[in-house]
Amino acid sequence: MRSEIEDTPDTPATPGPAHIVVLGNEKGGSGKSTTAMHVAVHLLRQGYRVGCLDLDARQGTLRRYIKNRLDYVKANNLSLPSPTYAVIERVELESRSDSEKREEAMLDAFIAEFRASHDFLIVDTPGSDSSLARRALGHADTLLTPMNDSFIDLDILGQVDPNSHKVVRPSHYAEVVWEQRKTRAGRGSRPIDWVVMRNRLGTLDSANNRAMETALEDLANRIGFRLVVGFTERVIFRELFLMGLTLLDLRDVGADIKLSMSHIAARQEVAQLVNGLNLGAPAGPSDDENTGRTAP
Ligand SMILES: Nc1ncnc2c1ncn2[C@@H]1O[C@H](COP(=O)(O)OP(=O)(O)OP(=O)(O)O)[C@@H](O)[C@H]1O
Ligand SMILES: [Mg+2]
Repeated sequence: MRSEIEDTPDTPATPGPAHIVVLGNEKGGSGKSTTAMHVAVHLLRQGYRVGCLDLDARQGTLRRYIKNRLDYVKANNLSLPSPTYAVIERVELESRSDSEKREEAMLDAFIAEFRASHDFLIVDTPGSDSSLARRALGHADTLLTPMNDSFIDLDILGQVDPNSHKVVRPSHYAEVVWEQRKTRAGRGSRPIDWVVMRNRLGTLDSANNRAMETALEDLANRIGFRLVVGFTERVIFRELFLMGLTLLDLRDVGADIKLSMSHIAARQEVAQLVNGLNLGAPAGPSDDENTGRTAP
């Protein structure tokens, strides 16, 4: 019997000004949603038009984060730049495969719409394999993979020999990225710039740190990603979510959170991360980091 839903073609090339950054890692809790929000607000504060797409409808962390922000801004009569956002809701048809095709078509449509009207689109994906997350990878100009500084997280990217710390073989996620790279190359799209970011870094040098570095450098060469330094482990990240704030907003929120030296260092980490992404400048940004105005 013929399905009512047509096969979705390969991810279409979606020309437009927006640069698409996908946050992806099949490991849950690695910092995708937190990083997505910080990158989005950093770019907003540079004057860019930023849209966010939450593909993790079940958890909806990024949606919640942005809603919390809008509520906080309203309750405190503040003016903080906020991204536009959309969520791809889960489709529950009789057949899972039909549902996936419908979800993928919704994703393509949202991306086409956002691409035309934004400078950057930040896409947050769930911490597990899904057809929607794979489809999003096909759209990614940049894939940003945060990983916690542990061999458990590294195992999602590649299996490492416990003695030599050399990579034995790439893992499932690396193969998923490889497939999407081939698809993009096949249709002449620019290659995905895959950037792996070490998150929740400890401040102490340790044997574990050094072993992770060796293994990650080996893996980067083997499966083709760049490494950037991410965020230090800081309690503030967990506190900001409820107010929908990022480290970049702390100067503008008055007495709710006092800006400390540690916060200033953390803000610099965010700026360093975004610089390391080499996102380019699609539409002239404002020079003033704090205006949050929309780029012309
Ligand atoms: N650098 C950090 N220091 C301290 N806590 C952090 C840091 N980065 C993220 N966290 C915290 O770790 C938890 C998981 O982060 P987050 O929700 O961003 O991960 P995720 O990859 O989106 O998770 P999921 O896969 O479940 O969607 C959150 O409580 C967040 O506040
Ligand atoms: Mg998340």
